[in-house]
Amino acid sequence: MTDARDITEIAVAGLDPYTVTVGYGLRHRLAEQLGEGVAKVLIVHPPTLARAAEELRESLADRYQVLLAEVPDAEAAKRVEVASFCWQILGQADFTRSDAVIGFGGGAVTDLAGFVAATWLRGVKLVQVPTTVLGMVDAAVGGKTGINTAEGKNLVGAFYAPAAVVADLDTISSLGRNEVLAGFAEIVKCGFIAEPEILDLLEADVDGTTDPASDAFRRVVELSIGVKARVVGQDFKESGLREILNYGHTLGHAIEHAERYQWRHGAAVSIGMVYAAELSRLAGRLPDAVVERHRAILESLTLPTSYPAGRWQTLLSTMRRDKKARGAMLRFIVLDDVARPTVLQAPDESLLFAAYQEIAS
Ligand code: GLY
Repeated sequence: MTDARDITEIAVAGLDPYTVTVGYGLRHRLAEQLGEGVAKVLIVHPPTLARAAEELRESLADRYQVLLAEVPDAEAAKRVEVASFCWQILGQADFTRSDAVIGFGGGAVTDLAGFVAATWLRGVKLVQVPTTVLGMVDAAVGGKTGINTAEGKNLVGAFYAPAAVVADLDTISSLGRNEVLAGFAEIVKCGFIAEPEILDLLEADVDGTTDPASDAFRRVVELSIGVKARVVGQDFKESGLREILNYGHTLGHAIEHAERYQWRHGAAVSIGMVYAAELSRLAGRLPDAVVERHRAILESLTLPTSYPAGRWQTLLSTMRRDKKARGAMLRFIVLDDVARPTVLQAPDESLLFAAYQEIAS
């Protein structure tokens, strides 16, 4: 077992460099991350973390004036009315440029908190404290912040680097098993695009590696954060390399849309990765064995790998509206091999459909 006091620090480079700290019990040491000069702190959290947020408030109360903003859970947090509620709290408490916002929750809450921090007085200090696997390995790292509109997800937002990210692994132990497993879709993604050790660990012992108390769990979380840190450190605003993080997401986002956002993100991305792998194979890039490796690993995590036949036209038209498409031209991240991602530009529609037939149930 890892010593509970061990702390891993993962540096994220860029114009505003910061550190992702991984370990146990870290949320009780947040004052170290807030630093000097901060007088007021707003903790943005969902109802499920009300008690934990109150504990956080108490741990900071001797140094800061701490306010809480309880916001709806999951995607319901990412609405302009909820951002407005947070701005109102900041305004009424006279938050200035030297004060801070803490995002304490899953990916939706850290996206919202990041957007609130980015926009209040054109930017106040932001510390992200993700409490889900997805939040730790993806949403809270990299500075993508935003809210949804009636027209689609994440259409309003800002690239805004946090001052620090604190991944307290203790917070994972209170999550349901299915939520942990859904978060593993992003970990598997990091395995296929950049870090094969993740795949080896999952193949060797899927139950051990998904157990939040195990060393293997911590290892795959840290490897995944390392992938994200390296990529966003080189390409903060997604002008090139960062696109590889969208492996499996082009179809995944279309499935989420078709399912009216009632599916877990990880489930949709899981199918999306098998689709991208099939596309790579049919484009003559990827051996059959690597495609089957996708299915075997994702199914061992009980994640879905197929989607009903007959929904192709709906998914295709949603993908054409994806903000990563360039005009009418679709772009997919595909693989030439494990850890060799590349872009497939404007693939032929017959190829796209053939890949869909491979995942259709
Ligand atoms: N979630 C993909 C990215 O941060 O670019």
